[in-house]
Amino acid sequence: MKKRIGILTSGGDCPGLNATIRGVAKACFEMLGEDNVQIVGIQNGYYGLINNLAVDMEPSDFSGILTQGGTILGTKRQPFKMMTVIGDDNVDKVKNMRETYKKQKLDCLLTLGGNGTHKTSKLLADEGLNVIGLPKTIDNDIYGTDVTFGFHTAVDIATDAIDRLHTTAASHSRILICEIMGNKAGWLTVNAGIAGGADVILIPEIPYDIDKVTEAITKRTESGKGFSIIAVAEGAFDIEEAKLKKKERAKKRSDAGEVTATNRIASQIQAATGIDTRVCVPGHMLRGGSPSAYDRILATKFGVYAATLIKEERYGRTVAMVNSKITSNKLEDIAGLTKFVDPEGQIVTTAKNLGVSFGD
Ligand code: F6P
Repeated sequence: MKKRIGILTSGGDCPGLNATIRGVAKACFEMLGEDNVQIVGIQNGYYGLINNLAVDMEPSDFSGILTQGGTILGTKRQPFKMMTVIGDDNVDKVKNMRETYKKQKLDCLLTLGGNGTHKTSKLLADEGLNVIGLPKTIDNDIYGTDVTFGFHTAVDIATDAIDRLHTTAASHSRILICEIMGNKAGWLTVNAGIAGGADVILIPEIPYDIDKVTEAITKRTESGKGFSIIAVAEGAFDIEEAKLKKKERAKKRSDAGEVTATNRIASQIQAATGIDTRVCVPGHMLRGGSPSAYDRILATKFGVYAATLIKEERYGRTVAMVNSKITSNKLEDIAGLTKFVDPEGQIVTTAKNLGVSFGD
C-alpha cells in the first residue's frame, strides 16, 4: 500500500513554497521509495480540503519548480476564526476537512503556511488527523523558529527597493519613505532597513513619536545630509494610536481614510521639515518571483526534514530552525503565538548603535 501524503499551501504565498514542496516530495521518493509514496496535491489551501479539491500528483510534477515563485498548488486565505463557524452556506468546514482526509485516504497532511495556517493545523491535529506544518511567511513571525522560508527573499527585494530610493532621494534632496509589508511584526522592515541603510525604521513593536522622527531628520539636515530614507512597516503606529485598542485604532484609521500610517507620516514630516517627502510601496512585489539562494536551501532543508518526520510517523509537529539547526516543534507549543521583534533585542540595538532612529 502506498503512503498517501496530502500537501497544501495556505494563506499569503511567498517565494520558496515550490522549493519546499519539491524538497518534501523528492525526499519522500528517495527515503521511502517512489513506488511506496503517493503525493496528493490539495488545491487552494484549506479551501481545497473543505471542498475535496485534490489530485494525485506525478513525480514529474516536482521537477523544474525549485526556482519558481508562488505555489503550484494555489493558495487562499481561509481565516482560522471562521473555521469553526457555520455560515450561510451551512458548510461544517471542520467536518468537511476530516471527510476529505478520509475520502482521499490520506496517511498524513502537510500544511505549508503562516500563523493562521498553523492554528488550523493544530485544530486538525486535535481532530485526530496526522498533520505536519512547515513555516512559510515573508513576515518571519512564526513562533519557535529562527526563520521562515520566504523571509530572506523578501528582505533582498525590500533592500533593493531601499537602495533604489537612496539614489533618487540623494539626487533630489528628498525624504523617501518605503512602506514594507508586516502588519504585526517588523522583522522585514528592520532587516531591510539595516541592509538598505535607512535612517529611520518604524515597526509595530515600537510605537513612534512623530516629533522624534522629525528630530532625527532635522539632525541629519543640520549635519549637511540633504536627504533621508525611512523604512516603515505597514503595521506601524504612533504613541497616540498605541493607547487605543486594536479595533478602535482600525476605526480611527478608517474614519481618516487611512489604511496604513505611511502617508500621514509623510505629510507630517514634510510639514515639520519643509523637505519634499514621497512614499513608495513595493507591496506584493515583496512576495513575488523566484526564491533567493538562501531560501531555496532553507526550503529544501525544511522539506527534507518534513519527509523524515513522515518516515518516522512523528505528527502534530511543525518544522523549525532553532539555533541554526533544523528541528520540529509540537503544534500545541507554537500555534496561536507570534514571534515579535524584541525592542531591546540585538537587531534593534545594532541599528540604534549606528544612529538609526526608531522614533522612540
Ligand atoms: O502574511 C504575509 C503578508 O504579505 C503580510 O506581510 C501582509 O500584511 C499580508 O500578507 C497581505 O495580505 P494579502 O496578500 O492577503 O493582501
